[in-house]
Amino acid sequence: MLRNRSFLTLRDFSQAEIRFLLDTAKDFKQNRDLYRKDAPLRGKSLIMIFQKRSTRTRVTAELAMADLGGKSIFLGQDDIHLGVNETIKDTAMVLGRMASGILARVYEHKDVEILAKYTGIPVINALSDTYHPLQCLADLFTIEIHFGTFEGIKVAWIGDGNNVCHSLMIGCAKMGLTMHIATPIGYEPSEDILHYCKKLNYGEIHVSHNPEEVIKDADVVVTDTFVSMGQEAQREEKLKHFKDFQVNSDLTSSAKSDYIFMHCLPRHPEEVTDEVFYGPHSVVFEEAENRLYTTAAVLKNLL
Ligand code: CP
Ligand code: NVA
Repeated sequence: MLRNRSFLTLRDFSQAEIRFLLDTAKDFKQNRDLYRKDAPLRGKSLIMIFQKRSTRTRVTAELAMADLGGKSIFLGQDDIHLGVNETIKDTAMVLGRMASGILARVYEHKDVEILAKYTGIPVINALSDTYHPLQCLADLFTIEIHFGTFEGIKVAWIGDGNNVCHSLMIGCAKMGLTMHIATPIGYEPSEDILHYCKKLNYGEIHVSHNPEEVIKDADVVVTDTFVSMGQEAQREEKLKHFKDFQVNSDLTSSAKSDYIFMHCLPRHPEEVTDEVFYGPHSVVFEEAENRLYTTAAVLKNLL
């Protein structure tokens, strides 16, 4: 059911399909050597287009392709004509005749949609300004490992209501988790995505501007960088608006006693203190490692 599909946002995937991807990830984690031996993507190729920097997404996609027996080609911002000397449509039509899939990190979400519309091969969103579905899959995977279930889990998001938050909202809504979100005024998640999640009616979702209220009895506390890639010019202004949204031990004292702290990384101290980030509740490095297993699951099933 997943073969040849694009992975632009989790909106396009059912609860059962997300479940299947999480189960494949678990299997890959446990049997990585078997996957290496079987090489299910032998003869397949993935073109990786990155208009923004990346550590985790790039490394995990390249390693996953290698483990699955396929080939990946990394194209950074200055390596191809895309957007400078050639349209996205033409690039999509050319690459679709050569490769088995495209993984792309872009600014505007419509750019991955254009790639998907014209290329004829699966396109995987490696982060756009609106969504980060690969991150959400790793986050759900990490939560499930820690609590053994999604049932009754409350996720508290403290920070910016943009791409990573949007994807986690959809993931939580689809898998039945409760998500409470606190953002500064003016940085709320998109109304359209909020409406979509509420309409699903699986997981409860709530948006406010009050981190203290949101973190109360949370099982999972999550934040993200306050200044996303492409927002560098707004840095000073954003840091002012986000000054009361730092995750610190005062704030986390009202989360559940066995709460976990997550952050997609890269991290900066203004978002979370060292005490919490490197503390006993933090699972951030395990979360980063899980990107490998969940990305492998997406590549194996789609390509
Ligand atoms: N979390 C994440 O996507 O990290 P990178 O920007 O390093 O890929
Ligand atoms: N919100 C961040 C996520 C980085 C993985 C950004 O868009 O830069």
